[in-house]
Amino acid sequence: MPEFDLIVRGGTVVTASDQFLADIGIRAGRIAAIADRLEGGPEIDATGLFVMPGGVDSHCHIEQLQDGGGADEETFLTGSTAALAGGTTSVVTFSTQFKGGGVLAPLAEYRRRAAAGAMVDYAFHQIITDATEAVIRTELPELVASGVRSLKVFLTYDPLRLDDREYLEVLSAARRLGCLVTVHCENYDAIAWRSKALLADGRTAAKYHAWSRPEVVEREATHRAIALAELVDTPIEVFHVSGSQAAEEIARAQRRGVKVWGETCPQYLVLTAEDMDRPGFEGAKFMCSPAPRDAAGTAALWEAIRLRTLEVISSDHSGWCYDGARGKRAGGDDAPFTKIPNGVPGLAARLPLLWSEGVAGGHITPSDFVRLTATQPAWLFGLQAKGRIAPGADADLVLWDPAKKVTITNALMQQAIDYTPYEGKEVTGWPVATILRGQVVMKDGVVQAKPGSGRYIPVPAYDAIRPRGVLPDGFDAAAF
Ligand code: URP
Ligand code: ZN
Ligand code: ZN
Repeated sequence: MPEFDLIVRGGTVVTASDQFLADIGIRAGRIAAIADRLEGGPEIDATGLFVMPGGVDSHCHIEQLQDGGGADEETFLTGSTAALAGGTTSVVTFSTQFKGGGVLAPLAEYRRRAAAGAMVDYAFHQIITDATEAVIRTELPELVASGVRSLKVFLTYDPLRLDDREYLEVLSAARRLGCLVTVHCENYDAIAWRSKALLADGRTAAKYHAWSRPEVVEREATHRAIALAELVDTPIEVFHVSGSQAAEEIARAQRRGVKVWGETCPQYLVLTAEDMDRPGFEGAKFMCSPAPRDAAGTAALWEAIRLRTLEVISSDHSGWCYDGARGKRAGGDDAPFTKIPNGVPGLAARLPLLWSEGVAGGHITPSDFVRLTATQPAWLFGLQAKGRIAPGADADLVLWDPAKKVTITNALMQQAIDYTPYEGKEVTGWPVATILRGQVVMKDGVVQAKPGSGRYIPVPAYDAIRPRGVLPDGFDAAAF
């Protein structure tokens, strides 16, 4: 019997801290050996390529259940295809709660869908929209026991948002149960107030989406989300930071020792608010929340990445098309910005965009790229076998051509979503093969995995999100 099931031969291995020429030997789905020269098993040639951990996309909306039935147009099958095409091997997606309902029944249905379709490994965030006593005291302990340890909270959007008191209840439950809380930080009332005035003034086009939620709206909610988390001593991650103001709030809290992490996404590094002002209805393709900002905002984000204020780059892949009955355009080309679904797709584009803008663009090193897109998200969300190249870790790898130039098209994204906001953009750097638990699941753009071959990653208690043990006056209100 050969010693290895697969040898990745002669590539430049990149980890979050190092870069070296080596072979990687894989046995039973795990990395078994890393050495100058390995023999004994079938090989895949990585000469001239970088060998990096498969991407871990810790924020993507895939087949998310919708109130009243149905789900996102991006299914686990199509979303997995896009992920593998783009070099991503693990995702953290969203189970939902609908107001008036619990969390366990939707989670069971969501797990059923994932088990049937997923071709990448997956863990879940649980969205909390109704922090009832039954959910907080009875259902969440069961949910955590089943391996879900990230609770997602929206401070805006009807009908998803929580008020501050409800958010405090979720933070308290998370502290008691050992969960991370992830937060969409925008001020609901400020957005509603400005939107009403914009519509009254006839400013309805897509570009006014940005006007409805300027950075101060994000900054205020980020400050509040962190302050309340500090009050309870619950670690949080601020999702999709769009510019300098929210990043500064995070940096200030980090300097105080608060356990708060920041995430940003390629759309905030590549797009600007001006994209929402494209002719016709095209601007809707660039609408997401928070809104993309400007060149100065993008520069500030690169600086925040360099300073490690922002430590995770996810796609926030949105599961909605442009055309079709549920797409951005469903309300017609005259639909006001308030009626256009938010979010942009980016599962397959995440790594190429970040390599091209970040590494080829001189903002980050290859090791930073690995840390931001794989190692840090795996660590933060407790995916202990993922995001690393080390003996014993899952053999999830991407073989990367750092010099390959590709013009992005939606066909290359291999997603169900019918557009990409990056259509026509040339990138430098592209995945040529993706390996999941030792299986070559994408080669030269051809995805070859079986529906349902992805595995659920139950998350056990883990150290990264242990509370600090620092409470105002020492009084633990969350204990009651
Ligand atoms: O606009 C966005 N970001 N849509 C996806 C949902 C969310 O807020 O994360
Ligand atoms: Zn969000
Ligand atoms: Zn999202």
